[in-house]
Amino acid sequence: MFKTIILSLVLTLSLIFPVQADSYQFRANHNLDGIGKFYMGREIAQVMGHQGAGWLERSPREKEEQPQKVIDGLNLKSSDVVADIGAGTGYFSFRIAPLVNKVYGVDIQPEMIEILTLLKAEKHILNVEPVLSTNTSPNLPPASIDLALMVDAYHEFDYPQEMMIGITQALKPNGRVALVEYKGENPFIAIKPLHKMTERQVIREMEAVGLVWEETKRDVSQQHLLIFTKSPAKS
Ligand SMILES: C[S@@+](CC[C@H](N)C(=O)[O-])C[C@H]1O[C@@H](n2cnc3c(N)ncnc32)[C@H](O)[C@@H]1O
Repeated sequence: MFKTIILSLVLTLSLIFPVQADSYQFRANHNLDGIGKFYMGREIAQVMGHQGAGWLERSPREKEEQPQKVIDGLNLKSSDVVADIGAGTGYFSFRIAPLVNKVYGVDIQPEMIEILTLLKAEKHILNVEPVLSTNTSPNLPPASIDLALMVDAYHEFDYPQEMMIGITQALKPNGRVALVEYKGENPFIAIKPLHKMTERQVIREMEAVGLVWEETKRDVSQQHLLIFTKSPAKS
């Protein structure tokens, strides 16, 4: 009897909290740029504070990161609803907005959302909607987006598994996920190691939430663009 109660309690809890309890490990001995929390062997990086907003808008960025190459690689449709998750100042949101139906500019820092809202008014771009997320949810309606884009952001998510589950729930049945990360394979790229990701690691972490790898575009300057689709089994 007692065994049955415990078993049904465990079953109920696993339905309410689908994330595995041991998804994360904590180590006192860790990289100073990290938070001491590890997911699938990777230490999670510290969040780039809103004080760095000016760096996101720096003028050499156009030459360094070639954002247009990323946007071309996304194969956007004019009917698309895109969520730019970890949008920061909206560097990508505002470049994508003229090409699509709507962009959600999602960020966890209220100060970033304030900047994004200010720039939206300044640029008179009406189809960008700022959304304040939590660290476990993008706060997007279910089945509402065609594409979730994360540029230089995913490696900072402190609950990556919960966020990706929330993002896949927000995807339409044929929705896609695109990640742009500095290439972790290349030691000569002058970016702090925890702010880079290898292609292999990105694919492992996306497959862990049921996403299916579609392609990698490796010619985006020092970054790679990885595209995933929602698992057919989940759609
Ligand atoms: C390095 S910035 C990149 C901003 C933007 N994607 C760009 O390329 O200009 C990373 C952004 O991710 C945001 N971020 C970090 N963790 C997040 C989370 N769990 N949910 C949403 N945004 C997050 C940070 O607040 C920051 O604005």
